[in-house]
Amino acid sequence: MSRILIKQTLDNIDKEVTLAGHVATKRDHGKVTFIDLRDESGSLQIVGYKMLGELKMESVISVTGMVKKRPTGQINPHLITGELELEVKSYTLLSAAKDLPILVNDDGKQVSEEVRLQYRYLDLRRERMQKNIRLRHRLIRALRENFYQENFIEIETPLLTQATKEGARDFIVPSRLQPGEFYALPQSPQQYKQLLMASGFEKYFQVARCFRDEDLRADRLLELTQLDLEMAYVDKIEQVMDTVENLLKKSLTQIGGKLQQQVFPRFTYQQAMNKFGADRFDLRTTAEKKQGVLAFAWVTHFPFFKKVDKADAAEVADGKSGWTFTHNPFSAPLEEFRQDLLAGKNIANILTAQYDLVCNGYEVGGGSLRAHTRDTLTATYKIMGYSENEIEASVGHMLQAFDLGTPPHGGLALGIDRLAMVLTGETSVKEVVAFPTTGSGKVAVMTAPNQVKPQLLQELGINIKEREAK
Ligand code: AMO
Repeated sequence: MSRILIKQTLDNIDKEVTLAGHVATKRDHGKVTFIDLRDESGSLQIVGYKMLGELKMESVISVTGMVKKRPTGQINPHLITGELELEVKSYTLLSAAKDLPILVNDDGKQVSEEVRLQYRYLDLRRERMQKNIRLRHRLIRALRENFYQENFIEIETPLLTQATKEGARDFIVPSRLQPGEFYALPQSPQQYKQLLMASGFEKYFQVARCFRDEDLRADRLLELTQLDLEMAYVDKIEQVMDTVENLLKKSLTQIGGKLQQQVFPRFTYQQAMNKFGADRFDLRTTAEKKQGVLAFAWVTHFPFFKKVDKADAAEVADGKSGWTFTHNPFSAPLEEFRQDLLAGKNIANILTAQYDLVCNGYEVGGGSLRAHTRDTLTATYKIMGYSENEIEASVGHMLQAFDLGTPPHGGLALGIDRLAMVLTGETSVKEVVAFPTTGSGKVAVMTAPNQVKPQLLQELGINIKEREAK
């Protein structure tokens, strides 16, 4: 099909062109029918004499006709093509739409989430969602290009792997080749990126999909995307923080983000708690909130350990001694607390070389300098109550890599979903993900999770207990 985009009609006045798109609105006056035709570049009024009246909303058509200037008085100042219209000579119905379950020419905020997600392909046609998904694309693209420019190289790491602790439950995948055994989907690429530092790649990044089985909230997804990075030969938290701050500022500015401050303010955890009562906070004024300003800040000097929350199954499993990590067991302590960590003393006072990035009240990133020696990582696990055998079973592979020459390193992961959310001014991460799950973790456009055939279960060596009647 040889067609031009709707925005290109501006350069084709008084010419015959072919356009294609969805029927966005229709006003049928009998003899003459007006349709707003919508493609990804915009929309245009098309006029049919004794035709088009039969078309239903959201049907897909291609139309051929003359691009004309609209008569004065009929100009639509809200559209870039508002001074033009297409006089239709002929059209082809490419896909006829039936009655629509939801409308797509409003912001969709009145429609229930379940219905929006069930018909997500319709929901995504609305202007708000088109803008959100495209802005997310531009964010990822700008970040990628700026990371390349700083000589970071992009490396993919496995999704079928062993558990990596980030404080949530794992999603597990049964293995057919090793019946009765399971892979875990990564909660983050944390261990692999550290192994890449052991492998001689000094600046790594990846746009990484991570999986966390945790209770959903407006800023949480089961499947999230991180811009994950790691750098070798860093020994000060500022080296990673400055690198990320510069790359992020550059990327956001390139795509029209408005930053409150060019130098992100830095708070210690204690300062943040004293000042805001929380380690994530919103520095914007009311006026700045309306203007879509992004107010970033760093938080550092976090406690390394906390008492296990007995209501949290993941914490109970990790913190056998009653202590668990606050952020990441692979973090290094701040240098002045190294001796306490190694000795397992003054546990509540040990601070970690962790830094969190906050924006508009959300935690949008986090990272740390890492343990890169056997004694540091072992000491952390001992404080959590792991025996030598248990340490070997969970992180023995990391200890081995540390024993074979691993440079000091540190890194961070940006939460792409949350960054896109604050950038678009949305208040739920689902608004910046094409196909998110429902609040109860169901895939809405298809049936998942789903039962599988008994034969497959047999191959996998899995017996399902009788399902309780719902
Ligand atoms: P962390 O667990 O802090 O660190 O994750 C990094 C960032 O990812 C985002 N995030 C989420 N976004 C949506 N839904 C979720 N369920 C979710 N969980 C986290 C947040 C968070 O700041 N391996 C470390 C990083 C590192 O140390 O380099 C990690 O994953 O914006």
